[in-house]
Amino acid sequence: MGSAAHTSDTAAPGRLVLGIESSCDETAVALVRGDGTIVAQAIASQEAEHAPYGGVVPEIAARAHAERLAPMLAKVMGDAGIALDKVDAIAATAGPGLIGGVMVGLVSAKALAMASGKPLLAVNHLEGHALSPRLADAGLAFPYLLLLVSGGHCQILAVTGVGQYRRLATTIDDALGEAFDKTAKILALGYPGGPAVERLALEGDPKAVPLPRPLKGSAEPHFSFAGLKSAVLRAVESGAHRPADIAASFQQAAVECLIDRLELALGRAGPFPALVVAGGVAANKTVRAALEALAARHAMRFTAPPLALCTDNAAMIAWAGIERLAQEGEGFAGDPLDFVARPRWPLDPAAEAVRGAGYKA
Ligand code: KG4
Ligand code: ZN
Repeated sequence: MGSAAHTSDTAAPGRLVLGIESSCDETAVALVRGDGTIVAQAIASQEAEHAPYGGVVPEIAARAHAERLAPMLAKVMGDAGIALDKVDAIAATAGPGLIGGVMVGLVSAKALAMASGKPLLAVNHLEGHALSPRLADAGLAFPYLLLLVSGGHCQILAVTGVGQYRRLATTIDDALGEAFDKTAKILALGYPGGPAVERLALEGDPKAVPLPRPLKGSAEPHFSFAGLKSAVLRAVESGAHRPADIAASFQQAAVECLIDRLELALGRAGPFPALVVAGGVAANKTVRAALEALAARHAMRFTAPPLALCTDNAAMIAWAGIERLAQEGEGFAGDPLDFVARPRWPLDPAAEAVRGAGYKA
């Protein structure tokens, strides 16, 4: 990444923020500058620990974060050759997520903030994803239409500024990443499922297996993927289809749902100058290509962050901290040291409660 020039709309190009991410199964630390430079970072995946269980085990995740975080913090500061007193603030994911892991990162950040006298920034993990495209794309200004697709979330948001998110759609059951993971499990492709399904789909025919497109064409603005997953299970059990065809047909059905729901959101809340995708599923090339085509049809700028910024990382948490510092201005003391970790923390608290919204599965 490196040298994007964030000088026009970021009031803090020289600021330096340390970010910590520990809400799911990645332990991550990053030191990011206000001009968009990632000075140093480290990320440790727990894939190997969770793979035998086919999903993330919260207790194992919390322990792994606790073991790894301190040495990783020391390594990132060492690699950067920067002492803590040169950092402007310490940002950590404070939710939503698996509470044990969130607490490991947040408590560590509180300790560093206390020891250094620097402000603590308690960051919403979803806000990290939502603002990450501005770290990747220096020219991306507000407002933009955001598709946030991860293992725990599937939302369409109108992003009008830092801290200003209006939810236009969410999933009423499974998140799309979860549907990818479950499809992978049904096809015995292992964990994590998204990349495995994408790889297998390359060898399959996306039209071969008739699968439903839940809520496609519906006036209800939301997503639903539970029925699609069940149809995948039935297709596998029927024995009538090649696994690659099932993977390709699943991916095709999912992408069509995304595009249909985005078209509806654009019709109701648009136009927007830019379409942006964030979250782990944004790593999927078929998803990206379909979104890029949608943006082109609507003459929108399209931003998809590089893959390393799509899946969970700490640079996006540090960046959300930088955006917040810039917004709050001089004299901002940060969040209180007794800030409580939040397992659920919707980006748009005013949005109606829908099952699946505002927390990770
Ligand atoms: O954003 P993320 O790293 O963690 C959450 O905040 O959930 O997203 C992880 C999710 C997983 O469900 C994973 O299977 C999915 O993103 N994912 C993918 C791909 N890479 C990761 N899904 C589809 N295609 C991919 N290439
Ligand atoms: Zn995430």
